[in-house]
Amino acid sequence: MRTALVGCGGIAAVHAAVLKNLADCEIVGFADIIPERAQRFAAEYGGNAYASLEEMLEAEKPEVLHICTPHYLHVPMAVYALEHHVHVFMEKPPVISWQQLAQLEEAVLKSDKKLGVCFQNRYNPCVQAVKELLASGEAGKIKGARAFVTWNRQTPYYTESGWRGSLATEGGGALINQSVHTLDLLVYLIGQPVWTDAVIANHHLKGIIEVEDMMEANIRFADASAVFYATTAYCTDDAPLIELFCENMKIRMEDPRVELIYPDGTRKVPETKVIAPLGKGYWGSGHGSCIHDFHDAVKNNRPYPQELNGIKETTKLMLAMYESARKGHAVQLTETREEK
Ligand SMILES: NC(=O)c1ccc[n+]([C@@H]2O[C@H](COP(=O)([O-])OP(=O)(O)OC[C@H]3O[C@@H](n4cnc5c(N)ncnc54)[C@H](O)[C@@H]3O)[C@@H](O)[C@H]2O)c1
Repeated sequence: MRTALVGCGGIAAVHAAVLKNLADCEIVGFADIIPERAQRFAAEYGGNAYASLEEMLEAEKPEVLHICTPHYLHVPMAVYALEHHVHVFMEKPPVISWQQLAQLEEAVLKSDKKLGVCFQNRYNPCVQAVKELLASGEAGKIKGARAFVTWNRQTPYYTESGWRGSLATEGGGALINQSVHTLDLLVYLIGQPVWTDAVIANHHLKGIIEVEDMMEANIRFADASAVFYATTAYCTDDAPLIELFCENMKIRMEDPRVELIYPDGTRKVPETKVIAPLGKGYWGSGHGSCIHDFHDAVKNNRPYPQELNGIKETTKLMLAMYESARKGHAVQLTETREEK
């Protein structure tokens, strides 16, 4: 399939490396507002270089577009591509506001093309192992969960990017950018969230960023409640921890390691496959499988698990957590319809 990519920065290299080795994929173009970046990608991976998405779609008529631009551009670019009859695979986050979510829903509804969202960590072998264990019934019902993301982002990460750290372009910080994957895994493993009560703070980059460097939340699911904590003020990028307190065991996951802890204190570490990450270690190892699956779904005209409907509960929960933090009270997922 004729495939193009917009936004030739850090994560684009991971997408391009996967696409280059994908059977039936012809890379036809790269676009970036910094033309040298598009040129560098075209020279390395093939296709032509463009200075804008519009120009590239007009000239190349791709069947699939990968969106790897800053957060605020995901929805306008996805809507534009869908309106031009192009399948879209977009990086996270899918949206930065309730208004964008409504726009995206409308565009997806009107289009006969697919929109897939890159929550690649669902494809990590240890996550799949936990998903299968839960489905087997061996662990029993999930009664509670805790999730911790403790990472390190310092001033240059924000000041050198041109878009991170600003509410208008990044849409938030520690949650929407760094820990949204872990939030997505909670939803993927536990199910439908019901309400959330959240708090945000900026502890270590006051005056440098206007987004949060810390998000803390209580999340109520139908039969379980979770505590969630994410910070970018830690000294290093440690593996996120997800622990599921189940009827018959505790499942502790620190990718790539899974540990089962039984009520009598015995512990078991099931063997899980380890795949080397393509980019930075904390991006996880799922990009390859996630992108392969999307292209296969398009090619065979079958549903893709991470179309908008498959990731909508995560998206709504993320927006509700920000809304709760802003308003200072709990927010029901069913009632969240704020936006200017
Ligand atoms: N899934 C993951 O694990 C993961 C990891 C890293 C980044 N990401 C996501 O990928 C996206 C990009 O992140 P990044 O770290 O690569 O950022 P980046 O700043 O390195 O790259 C963004 C690129 O987009 C280009 N760009 C900006 N405006 C544009 C426009 N109007 N038209 C064309 N190009 C434009 C920039 O020039 C830059 O080259 C973000 O949404 C981020 O959250 C996801």
